[in-house]
Amino acid sequence: MRELSLNVLDIVQNSISAKATVIEIELLEHIEKDLLEINIFDNGKGMTEEQVKSVIDPFFTTRTTRKVGLGIPLFKMAAEMSGGWLDIKSEVGKGTRVYTSYGYSNVDRMPVGDMNGTVSMLIRMNPDIDFVYTHSINEKSYVLDTRELREQLDDVPLDTPDVIEWIEEYLKENDAELTT
Ligand SMILES: Nc1ncnc2c1ncn2[C@@H]1O[C@H](COP(=O)(O)OP(=O)(O)OP(=O)(O)O)[C@@H](O)[C@H]1O
Ligand SMILES: [Mg+2]
Repeated sequence: MRELSLNVLDIVQNSISAKATVIEIELLEHIEKDLLEINIFDNGKGMTEEQVKSVIDPFFTTRTTRKVGLGIPLFKMAAEMSGGWLDIKSEVGKGTRVYTSYGYSNVDRMPVGDMNGTVSMLIRMNPDIDFVYTHSINEKSYVLDTRELREQLDDVPLDTPDVIEWIEEYLKENDAELTT
């Protein structure tokens, strides 16, 4: 995978499969600390400690009855390649928190890619799920919270073209703000 935003898409797919109704995505660029963090939190069905261990290291488990998924191992590899790490905290019935860190300037750190495109696509494809997207660069940050957006919109669905266009514009403008 060439871009971290594609890994995010994959990891969020897990949250959707786990029946999450609220999914949070954090893109935290601590450039001054040479650190990048990407976190994905959900309120889906969660996993046991055993399950978490086996999804992080699928080849470690001796049982081979289950198809080996690669979403999480690939995300972990992307983080570790750049001198970072992946960690998962999960609780059955409560949800899952996937944390990753990267060496920001590490030559093997994959580019973030089109995170705004990923966020707007996720909203468009899953209009009944709420997404909370936080993007920070050093001390500055902004949040897109579809729960707040929904309140403003009354009963207009989030996948309405005008709404998606507004979301894309909001992300673009706020990103520009972060770098000024
Ligand atoms: N957020 C989550 N909530 C609940 N279970 C999860 C979550 N993320 C992963 N899992 C469990 O871990 C397994 C492995 O996830 P992973 O993304 O590595 O592979 P996969 O989704 O099975 O297959 P692939 O992503 O390669 O299509 C999932 O099948 C699921 O059972
Ligand atoms: Mg997956």
